[in-house]
Amino acid sequence: MPELPDHVARNREYWDERAESYVANARENWAAEEASWGIWSVPETELRMLPEDPEGLDAIELGCGTAYVSSWLARDGATPVGIDNSEAQLATARAMQAEHGLDFELIHGNAEEVPYPDGSFDFAISEYGASIWCDPDLWIPEAARLLRPGGRLVFLVNSPLMMLCAPKNEEDPVTEQLLWPQFGMKKFDDFEGDDAVEYHLPHGELIALLRRNGLEIEELIEVQPPADATTSYEWARLEWARKWPTEEVWKVRKA
Ligand SMILES: C[S@@+](CC[C@H](N)C(=O)[O-])C[C@H]1O[C@@H](n2cnc3c(N)ncnc32)[C@H](O)[C@@H]1O
Repeated sequence: MPELPDHVARNREYWDERAESYVANARENWAAEEASWGIWSVPETELRMLPEDPEGLDAIELGCGTAYVSSWLARDGATPVGIDNSEAQLATARAMQAEHGLDFELIHGNAEEVPYPDGSFDFAISEYGASIWCDPDLWIPEAARLLRPGGRLVFLVNSPLMMLCAPKNEEDPVTEQLLWPQFGMKKFDDFEGDDAVEYHLPHGELIALLRRNGLEIEELIEVQPPADATTSYEWARLEWARKWPTEEVWKVRKA
């Protein structure tokens, strides 16, 4: 088997170690009647990340984790495939499939190199999966390759502004100071306490990358927490998130 790129190997170890702590979240999301998203559990009615008319769509979830997003797609009549780098996360996804009587394909692999031919999908989605853990110069072209003309890619990421204000110790709350330079920002791999690698691009560079890959931007939503929002992520402060975006949704379409 070819050797994994360094960031993929590091992130595999990171997620295999943490999978256990995501089981409760998987249970909750698999059982949820309504989809909700991200740090603040913003309801689907607000963000509209899922396809309007999912019936019969071929969909891929890039970095599916415990695959609850794929389960929502399957329940709505789409045919999802989930790919994830962590076998431990996929073990939870498989247990949830059995518990909920839902069956769809789950692939253990790197979302930067998906074993499917060009133009296999109508819809691609990533909620903090490939969208932050994969190299954007690899996963965005790969998502574009996998989509049929007219197909859509929707993804949720941390806002670049929040990343610029995030302290080196990831457990510490986000600050009101710019702690990192924006120019040259892309790979974040020196957070204290773990060996994981994240990727975050400034808006200008992400827009250019999407357009170079034939992806037209339909919408960028800078997410605001709902009135009654809470979160289990201690570093995300509600007071901060009421003033600046902690996360954002990109919706793009293959020309
Ligand atoms: C926060 S989870 C996101 C998935 C889902 N929304 C959830 O919260 O369970 C991040 C997932 O990205 C996966 N991941 C990281 N690097 C990846 C890669 N190169 N290819 C595929 N999946 C990857 C991790 O294994 C992890 O399961």
